Amino acid sequence: MHAERGPLLRPILLVLVASSLALVALAANGAGAQQRTADAPPYLDQARPIAERVDDLLGRMSLDDKLGQMTLVDRSALGNQADVTTYRLGAVFNGGSSAPSPNHASSWADTIDSLQRSAEDTPLRIPLLYGVNAVHGHNGLWGATIFPHNIGLGASGDPELVAAISRATAEEMAGTGANWNFAPCLCVARDDRWGRTYESFGETPELVASMASAISGYQDGTPAVLATAKHYLGDGGTTGGVDQGDAALSEAELRAVHLPPFAAAVQRDVGSVMLSFSSWNGARLHAHRYLITDVLKDELAFRGFVVSDWAAVDRIDGASGLTAAEVRSAINAGLDMVMVPYDFRTFLGLLRTEVRAGRIPLQRIDDANRRILTQKFELGLFEQRQTDRRWTPTVGDAAHRDLARRAVRESIVLLRNDGGVLPLPRHAGKLFVAGRAADDIGIQSGGWTMSWQGGIGDITPGTTVLEAVRATVSPDTTVTYQRDGYGIDSSYRAAIAVVGETPYAEGRGDRRGTMSLDPADRAVLERLRAAGVPVVVVLISGRPLDIAAEVAQWDGLLAAWLPGTEGQGVADVLFGDHNPTGRLPLTWMADAAQQPINHGDGQEPLWPYGFGLNYPTDTVPAQTAPAQTVPAQNIPADTIPIGMAPGGADGGQPSSGNTFAASSSIAR
Ligand code: GLC
Repeated sequence: MHAERGPLLRPILLVLVASSLALVALAANGAGAQQRTADAPPYLDQARPIAERVDDLLGRMSLDDKLGQMTLVDRSALGNQADVTTYRLGAVFNGGSSAPSPNHASSWADTIDSLQRSAEDTPLRIPLLYGVNAVHGHNGLWGATIFPHNIGLGASGDPELVAAISRATAEEMAGTGANWNFAPCLCVARDDRWGRTYESFGETPELVASMASAISGYQDGTPAVLATAKHYLGDGGTTGGVDQGDAALSEAELRAVHLPPFAAAVQRDVGSVMLSFSSWNGARLHAHRYLITDVLKDELAFRGFVVSDWAAVDRIDGASGLTAAEVRSAINAGLDMVMVPYDFRTFLGLLRTEVRAGRIPLQRIDDANRRILTQKFELGLFEQRQTDRRWTPTVGDAAHRDLARRAVRESIVLLRNDGGVLPLPRHAGKLFVAGRAADDIGIQSGGWTMSWQGGIGDITPGTTVLEAVRATVSPDTTVTYQRDGYGIDSSYRAAIAVVGETPYAEGRGDRRGTMSLDPADRAVLERLRAAGVPVVVVLISGRPLDIAAEVAQWDGLLAAWLPGTEGQGVADVLFGDHNPTGRLPLTWMADAAQQPINHGDGQEPLWPYGFGLNYPTDTVPAQTAPAQTVPAQNIPADTIPIGMAPGGADGGQPSSGNTFAASSSIAR
């Protein structure tokens, strides 16, 4: 370029040159990108249809690549992270108690991103699924928002709320790199003695099926995480409510009660289904070809993949230790991915031997891989391999905690309100708070919180019920807390007793004997009652308890279930900022001897399925007055009008109760 062409021309020429260079660069880059796309194998080209990408990838995979994709390993089992690369592992997870350390969002993301890099070091660079049990928020993560457990969400009767909670949970998960949630549990809890009752949305297939909305919250939208409908099939229907027991049911009852939630999950295109430890009429679900392949995959047209539960394949023959026969029967029944979770070398050895011997057809292996890879492509894992840290700040953020507080409010069921003791006034003079659950985040959150079994005490940030009461009353109101109720006297306006169950999970929560309150709780309640002041009980529990003998001595009773970190939602109801709208998702026994007790079984409960009282509308701010009739949770038309429940020691105002008329859907 000749600069002598004059001062004015020079700037114009420089611009022209710069523009030309930019155009050349763009073209080159474009060509380069096209070249890269042209060079990249079809399965890495996101412009191609997913089915095409799956076919191309499958065609490139060795047998070891394929078997690795069918292997799900607990992170703590990876002595050497390079095992992800060496064994071509397709999925890693952390169980209830193997969270990354230190336990905060960025170290979770660093840990999972590092594992993804190990997966990327393989010839085909297939990204990992990383699974968690975020069953009521990202509950293994310190500082995450902990929402009410499912039983409380069932009491809310609000599928849209459940979808919003799942969306919030997906955001907090995505902020840590976790892309697969072993949730929702779509079990139908038919016997309250079952330790997993609180993981259920309720006792009817209609109510539970409506909450499959959780799947849309997890999978539809940005960020998306893979959802898991669990545990297929009949885990909530075992005899005696024994966890991992046997569901002795006719096929008609199994289909009528336990299958509809999974049909709803498939209609919402759930990406994975987890099998149940339990059996049906003596046959283990993990080897049940009829239910897995014929019913779930063929009849319901489930196109995702089926994953086993924790070391459940080992238990098919009833003895511990994985055998070739167990691997063969599970995979040939239609299981696609095995949650080993530890000894993956033995599992892979057995699987490889069975395939090479022709006892597991290669077609079955290819079908499993096709299902797994389709989900990975649809999740966009090949494009977004590392944590999108834009979501990390959502962990425990104000918006999520507000949503959780709303869920707590909507989950609470008012069961008794004698003499209109509730709502309590903010200007209450002196209030007394007692009970071991009053000031304990761990107890109010329940199992699956910070660890598998949950814990007692200040296990993660949140607001206890006591803190919420103190934050709600007027400055001139005195709130005295004494855990055991000592010091109560007649000078107090009322006593609030927060009592119930301490955390548990799975079989450790099975009730084999009494379903009553613990003696310590009963002693506290007796101490409060003896003082002659009104006693309001806030029950923190994963299920109905056997309280018929005591409830008449209480003036008020709120079933708060397992509310999670946002105890302020309990105070919102106690002081009338929210008129209780919750309705029982489970029939409340009049006696433990009635178990199992369910709607329509002819037994007379203390309170029926769907029961719940409201405050008289003149006692709460107009804006929270509830709809007069809570549309049914598909309660059959013959349901007894609420307030007239036989044995209803509700002390409530029948006129303020809600009558459930038959309705085809849940609405709020
Ligand atoms: C457990 C549970 C299952 C959970 C899995 C992984 O035993 O049955 O719900 O997702 O193990 O932690």
